[in-house]
Amino acid sequence: MCGIIGYIGKKPAAPILLQGLRRLEYRGYDSAGMAISNGETIARIRSVGKIDSLSEKMKTVEIPGTVGIAHTRWATHGGVTEENAHPHTGCGGKLILVHNGIIENYRELKEVLSSSHVFTSETDSEVLAHLIEEHLKQEDLQQGVVALRKAVEKALAHVRGTYGIVVMHEAVPHCLVTVRMGSPIVIGFAEDENSHEHEYYIASDASPMLAYTKKVIFLEDGELSVLTREGMETFTLKDEQVQKHVEEIEWNDEQAEKQGFAHFMLKEIFDQPTVFEDAIRGRYDLAEGTAKLGGLNMTEEQMRQINRVIFIACGTASYAGMIGKYAFERLAGIPAEVEVASEFRYRDPIVDERTLVFVISQSGETADTLAALREAKRKGAFVRGIVNVIGSTIARETDGGTYIHAGPELAVASTKAYTNMAAVTILYALQFGRARRVSLATGHRMLQALVEIPKKMNQILVQTEHIERIAKKFASYQDMFFLGRGVNFPVALEGALKLKEISYIHAEAYPGGEMKHGPLALVSPEFPTVAIMTKDQLYEKMMSNIEEVKARKGPLLLIATEGDEKAKEISPDVIYVPETMELLQPLLNTIPLQLFAYFVAVELGRDVDRPRNLAKSVTVE
Ligand code: AGP
Repeated sequence: MCGIIGYIGKKPAAPILLQGLRRLEYRGYDSAGMAISNGETIARIRSVGKIDSLSEKMKTVEIPGTVGIAHTRWATHGGVTEENAHPHTGCGGKLILVHNGIIENYRELKEVLSSSHVFTSETDSEVLAHLIEEHLKQEDLQQGVVALRKAVEKALAHVRGTYGIVVMHEAVPHCLVTVRMGSPIVIGFAEDENSHEHEYYIASDASPMLAYTKKVIFLEDGELSVLTREGMETFTLKDEQVQKHVEEIEWNDEQAEKQGFAHFMLKEIFDQPTVFEDAIRGRYDLAEGTAKLGGLNMTEEQMRQINRVIFIACGTASYAGMIGKYAFERLAGIPAEVEVASEFRYRDPIVDERTLVFVISQSGETADTLAALREAKRKGAFVRGIVNVIGSTIARETDGGTYIHAGPELAVASTKAYTNMAAVTILYALQFGRARRVSLATGHRMLQALVEIPKKMNQILVQTEHIERIAKKFASYQDMFFLGRGVNFPVALEGALKLKEISYIHAEAYPGGEMKHGPLALVSPEFPTVAIMTKDQLYEKMMSNIEEVKARKGPLLLIATEGDEKAKEISPDVIYVPETMELLQPLLNTIPLQLFAYFVAVELGRDVDRPRNLAKSVTVE
């Protein structure tokens, strides 16, 4: 939540920062702003609304300079106003910063500072600017960079909460100081082609810097870096110097572009066949009929000892975990459950050294998931990550795990990350299954089916126009049910979540068998149902549930197996999907629901990639 960015180098900072903000816009879009130093003074510009409004405003003023910071906000403390937009300054307007995170003791700090500082916003973030200013005496400023660093260190010693910050000061013009505590900071570096001087990019994630560099370092909690054109130094907040390890980012800039699609969400839906191949490539052994996920990091003996599996995640990632639960129980015969991270962290969860916990997260930064991970580790469980963003906190704090290789996912609504997360959970289940009870023939069959999935995904994607027509027909309803049974219940949950999050239509998902225990009372010609009735062991049961809806004149949209003529007899609105093994069917069945939600949202004129009230990376509780 909130995206921050900084640049120091030889190029004009404004276009780099603006473009970077667009890449980070998925983190929040209530307001945006930037500050740029021209070497003597710092100019600030802020605007309420999305990056486009900031961009419009920037057309009216020139803000030259090659050092700057910028921010896109998801409001936590204080309303959506220009005063609350970042960057925030201290009293004189000379010290200026951007912040991502929450300062828990900001009220106490503000009270103390208020006697000598004038506050102009309602935010917690502004406190940081005044606090650093308080520790930066005018006479110290002759020491330049060192003085600014020390003032930041001293100020942060009084702060409780989470922060990723970038600070600059008018009197130390060619310097940025950045600190991480609970909110991610990535620093990318390149060399100016002509002068060979260093250029640095700081951001909440690597996407804004992909066009310029692939070389990055990830700050750890409690680390501070000082960046000048001459170089970079990193310290702990206790003033000890730290040597950082340079990592290479695999993602490329093109992956983070819309590539001709109207929205990132649509592009990411269409990415699925390709990135699915990336998720499974090199991770199975066809001859042995098993998966081989090296990141599991467990001996065969440890694997045999596991008697319980827990998937911990939020939202869409938790629905991917549900697919993993079915797969683990069916293939490995190990009891498995799914826990919403925000609940797990505050219970006293029963986990021990025979429990295997998978923490699933696209961003790898979700606050609740991270806290749950730490809790599970504290209790001695094996904790492994299933994560998309490389180098993210969850990826680094788990003792092993697997990157899902979905590439940058920028639409707030998760699509390709979901299918890849589900694929990886299935591979893990197969790996455990083969070590316990799954036959070579079954393992082999399963892998053959897995390899066929991208081709079958494409068979669904070519039906886009048909799905769009159906979506237009359903877009005028106010409410919808989504029904699925067994392994398709998570598909129903995911379909309902996609629809509500981007179209704002009320949607509820139920296992088909639950309808007669209450929800059926809502069914009417005005309350349609989307039902997943692909052929599996619960097909007949699902058919009965669908008939119950039809008998009450509820309109139906059916997701059915190719060639199933019965579906057409029940409803005029059917989307056919190719058949695969039952456990893999959710990988296909979810795709028409993603497209359905997308086209309903487009029909209603919604801002598909940036739905109201949401942000992609939920780094606050
Ligand atoms: C999905 O469409 C949602 N935006 C949301 O539920 C998301 O999946 C959830 O916040 C978890 O995020 P993560 O995968 O980055 O941890």
